[in-house]
Amino acid sequence: MRIIVSPDPVTTGAAAAHAVASAADDRPDLVLGVATGSSPQPLYRSLAILVRAGLDLSSATAFALDEYVGLAPDHPESYHSVIAREVTAPLHLDPARVHVPNGAAADADAAAEAYERAIARAGGVDLQILGIGTNGHIGFNEPGSAADSRTRVVELAAQTIADNSRFFLDPADPVPTHALTQGVGTILEARHIVLVATGGHKADAIARGVEGPVTAAVPASFLQRHPDVTLFLDDAAASRLS
Ligand code: F6R
Repeated sequence: MRIIVSPDPVTTGAAAAHAVASAADDRPDLVLGVATGSSPQPLYRSLAILVRAGLDLSSATAFALDEYVGLAPDHPESYHSVIAREVTAPLHLDPARVHVPNGAAADADAAAEAYERAIARAGGVDLQILGIGTNGHIGFNEPGSAADSRTRVVELAAQTIADNSRFFLDPADPVPTHALTQGVGTILEARHIVLVATGGHKADAIARGVEGPVTAAVPASFLQRHPDVTLFLDDAAASRLS
């Protein structure tokens, strides 16, 4: 595991964006795994600047990590909407090559299997961008998720629902309680993993994931078994590493 510590979220995002840009330079038809949430936003903003300066991601393919279950795809906080707004448009990706799990499917198991097949058909993920939950989740693989878990419907932990409530401020709009997420096993098959974490509220999850025992109680700890993981942290997120 490589750990790169920067002073603040913007510099952290810029450093991670350069890692993504260099992978895309090496491989124009890069298969990118994309996370949503706050952590990768500075990365996407920096990458968008590089795209406007000439980086061409139009031949890249993208797979989102997860999608809420029970939220219409056109809801502004659905990950379909977030990915379209924060990733596809600013990075000038081809919308036909951007995939998000179908959390609205009547048959969620079939949708999960179809997603796994789509990733396999694309040749697997070259570079996976990850955030980390305050409880150590990756994707929406909450504590207790197995190392070999695959794409499936999961119930979100109370901590995750509380953390996500900042995106659902209208009381008529309840915070989703379930999601369709790539499994830990699916994520670990990515050839390179770039995890971005910023802020003191992530320091404990980072310390437990990086330096603690490898355990399903902290799904991010399974990343210790992956041969090519780079963590981009700001000082605050790195503050509890020894
Ligand atoms: C998002 C995802 C989650 C987030 C995590 C951190 O697609 O899979 O694992 O990365 O919940 O969220 P933020 O970055 O908002 O703190």
